[in-house]
Amino acid sequence: VKRITTHILQEMKQRGEKIAMLTAYDYSMATIVDDAGIDVILVGDSASNVMAGHETTLPITLDQMIYHASSVVRAINRALVVVDLPFGSYQGNSKEALNSAIRIMKESGAHAVKLEGGLEIAESVSRILAAGIPVMGHLGLTPQSIYKFGTYTVRAKEEAEAFKLREDAAKLQDLGCFSVVLEKIPAKLAKEVSENLTIPTIGIGAGQHCDGQVLVIHDMLGINKGFRPRFLRQYASLYDVMNGAIQNYIKDVKANDFPSEKEQY
Ligand code: KIV
Ligand code: NA
Repeated sequence: VKRITTHILQEMKQRGEKIAMLTAYDYSMATIVDDAGIDVILVGDSASNVMAGHETTLPITLDQMIYHASSVVRAINRALVVVDLPFGSYQGNSKEALNSAIRIMKESGAHAVKLEGGLEIAESVSRILAAGIPVMGHLGLTPQSIYKFGTYTVRAKEEAEAFKLREDAAKLQDLGCFSVVLEKIPAKLAKEVSENLTIPTIGIGAGQHCDGQVLVIHDMLGINKGFRPRFLRQYASLYDVMNGAIQNYIKDVKANDFPSEKEQY
């Protein structure tokens, strides 16, 4: 199989082929996602929420991200693997940012890193890029700044914030980022940014005009019960499937139906 590279993603934008990206955090899930033919796997710091049960993405550590990333990398044959730099591992100190990115690349074997923010982190982004590490940007509702925003609602609805987002997107492209995630911004703004940039935009809650889409795998498979934002299309109800299977197992054990004679030695 031909492996997806950042260059292939660039070509996909040029020929108008949409990029499909999903998160994964472990070997088994990444195997399924890669075998299905996904273009990009994001080892997101959303692992902090869906894998570790934290309320925000802030607590997850670099070591924990590397554990998730190396598990995913061992599973994949085709997808490009992008790993989030976690909160506190890159902001405000470009040397530390570079060290964090190098650790991810060296210890997990991933192919690229993702950082949240624009102009504020330009120095960190440059330094990582200068080391030959591909960088994906992330603008709009950046969850590591949730305590600044105070809410998970749509960002950049006001012109001042929309203006900054346009500038940040252009800056990330100029620095050399290969792509940028646009999270929870008006579709009209995402369309404008996607048209103005030559690098692909990947949207989540950012409308149909982005060059690709990303969802958290647990959300789109319906493993998370009760998380139903407007932007989420749920493709399965695995919570119910798994809950039912487990209840059947419990019932069979209690009824002494499992194991049967055929299931013993
Ligand atoms: O951590 C994550 O899952 C993400 C995507 C939602 C873009 O950053
Ligand atoms: Na993230």
